[in-house]
Amino acid sequence: MYQERVLSARHYTDNLFSFEITRPDGFRFRSGEFTMIGLEQEDGKPLLRAYSIASPSWQEKLEFFSIKVPNGPLTSKLQSIQAGDKIVLGKKSTGTLVLDALTPGKNLYLLSTGTGLAPFASIIRDPETFERYDNVVLTHTCRTVKELNYGKDLMAATMSDEILQQIIGDKLKHFTSVTREDYPFKGRITNLIEDGTLAEAVGLPDLNPETDRVMVCGSMGMLSDLKELFDSKGFVEGSVSRPGQFVYEKAFVE
Ligand code: A2P
Repeated sequence: MYQERVLSARHYTDNLFSFEITRPDGFRFRSGEFTMIGLEQEDGKPLLRAYSIASPSWQEKLEFFSIKVPNGPLTSKLQSIQAGDKIVLGKKSTGTLVLDALTPGKNLYLLSTGTGLAPFASIIRDPETFERYDNVVLTHTCRTVKELNYGKDLMAATMSDEILQQIIGDKLKHFTSVTREDYPFKGRITNLIEDGTLAEAVGLPDLNPETDRVMVCGSMGMLSDLKELFDSKGFVEGSVSRPGQFVYEKAFVE
């Protein structure tokens, strides 16, 4: 395991925070992958969980986006980390939410709920994403408006970066919806795809396997409902060894 240091931590709501840590020289990963991170316990053993890396693979530091699980063994401690604290990082990264797990297509849809946004925070800052696709649609659905803030800040920072702005141009669309408060787009992403709201909002045709590729990250319920929806639309599930039209992975759970 690598022993790294916390560079900064930022709290968004009572249950969401992000943090940045130092990146060891030899640590390589593909945008969208996850790794193991955690804290050393009093007995010296590390307490680890799988976390998607939210930073792009070219960035010098590593960024993560986390929930705070009440009484969760790791996150109840992790939520109070501060700059300078020690953090344990696994040597390897892996995962199916990578560009190579999809066959070539025209439009890339990145569908997320809650902290499921994390792998896509990496992918939308990777220049290769925009070499491969004409349009990239990032969707984020949360229970409350405040929970969308990490994604909104991410979009603002990405689009104000001169180099990324040149690479991305007008290819990236950010669609947000909220389920338990008033908001311009209200409802679960499953319903907003089925009733045509998403397509209309982003100005693209309804999702179809000939032109579109999809990555999904969220809760188990969200994954299984979207898997059913994309199966019914004829999308073929992919993996790194056998690329397809649709891939998914569950967001962090404790
Ligand atoms: P809802 O408020 O209707 O449950 P959670 O915090 O539970 O992971 O939820 C994050 C977001 O994902 C919420 O907006 C939630 O909507 C939505 N969600 C939960 N289950 C599903 C599902 N099966 N399909 C689509 N969206 C879901």
